[in-house]
Amino acid sequence: MKFETVVKGGTVVNAGGSVVADVGIDGETITALGRHLEGAEVVDATGRYVFPGGIDAHVHFQLPFGGTVSADDFENGTKAAACGGVTTIIDFAMQTRGDSLEKAVADRRAEADGKVSVDYGLHGAITDWNENTAREMRRLAENGVPTFKMFMIYRNEGWISSDADLFQALEIAGETGAQIGVHAESAEILDFLIARTARDPDVTSLGAVAHAKSRPPVVEWEAVQRALAWAEATGGRLYVVHTSTARAAALIARARDRGVNALCETCPQYLLLDESVFEREDGHLFATCPQIKTKEDAAALWRGLASGGVHVLATDTCTFTTEQKALWKGDFRKIPFGVPGVETFLPLTYAAGPAAGRLTLERWVALVSENPARIFGLYPQKGVVQPGADADIVVWNPDRGGEIRAADLQTNCDWNPFEGFALAGKPERTFCRGKEVARDGRFTGKPGYGRFVERKTGGGL
Ligand code: URP
Ligand code: ZN
Ligand code: ZN
Repeated sequence: MKFETVVKGGTVVNAGGSVVADVGIDGETITALGRHLEGAEVVDATGRYVFPGGIDAHVHFQLPFGGTVSADDFENGTKAAACGGVTTIIDFAMQTRGDSLEKAVADRRAEADGKVSVDYGLHGAITDWNENTAREMRRLAENGVPTFKMFMIYRNEGWISSDADLFQALEIAGETGAQIGVHAESAEILDFLIARTARDPDVTSLGAVAHAKSRPPVVEWEAVQRALAWAEATGGRLYVVHTSTARAAALIARARDRGVNALCETCPQYLLLDESVFEREDGHLFATCPQIKTKEDAAALWRGLASGGVHVLATDTCTFTTEQKALWKGDFRKIPFGVPGVETFLPLTYAAGPAAGRLTLERWVALVSENPARIFGLYPQKGVVQPGADADIVVWNPDRGGEIRAADLQTNCDWNPFEGFALAGKPERTFCRGKEVARDGRFTGKPGYGRFVERKTGGGL
């Protein structure tokens, strides 16, 4: 029997184990895993790893935010994803106040469909809890959008949810098998600290350090503690996005140990950078929300990733160029928050994870592919290299080094927070549903090839 394509002789690494095997592909699907498979087309993977495509469950393409719009749109953002070995991204459909959540999803789909080069899903971002929201959540959950996001801050943006909103959403999540992602920071304390820092006579000389100063760790862990209480009381599944502090991660792990349905995500910027970046002349470029914390926080998050207390790696990609970041004009309250990430996600976390001995290869694959697939209702269609799954495959060359350079990347960004970081392997070829979308870091796919993926309720670990 001849397969349309065979990826031959690589070490296939799934979260559950690794094996030297050929991967047979017909059309969009993996149809066999074995030895001596024959293919009409053969991709030589000798000496390479064969990973399931990366799943980045937290990206913001073309997001209106901070007085501008994030610089990677769906077309270029998904090209960048492909170049970095990411074959599925999940973005956000932001509800407009006074408007419907389902409309937000339909509008966001209209922006993405026909543009994306890899597969994508959407989280419904609830910003206006009203008499229709519970019904809309139920319908969306049954129709491919089973995960929602709520923000405990961002009053000025009109995105903030109250504790009561969050509580009710978690109740619906408990009933339906949906999930509530939460941006957990403490709005009242944060607003107070920002105002007090702004009044500091030294604020001008502090520069971007004022951003860090106004956002101490308690801002995150107090809100996480509160969200965990609502999850415990309602039984609804809670997913804490972009966790940045050791203490918040420990709270989530402890809650989970006593049976609370809670999961923890962290991102490369919290693992590979520390707050000293704000002292740099270009420190404002690194402003994210939550802010980048300390080396000790990063070390604890790495330990959580290795031990199982932190469940997902994602990027929170929200790209702003130096020109967009310059909108701050020296005022720490006006920096557009966010950094590029989807394209460097796998190379950086591979270099600092398995290649540096912090994670096993299988654990890394769990964190960047299988766990997000399971948690976000994509498994076993995605997140695993096995017969029946989508042929989302990355052929990874562990002998390719080099370093991150903004100038080499597809992302629409003229700087990179990880500039000069050494790499220990790179995606050589990336396939999304059997079709090559990138080779040697260059996009080879077609805008519009990517599909909206309808996800299932009841995900989790
Ligand atoms: O800095 C960030 N994270 N920007 C995007 C918005 C968010 O809070 O995720
Ligand atoms: Zn957020
Ligand atoms: Zn985000």
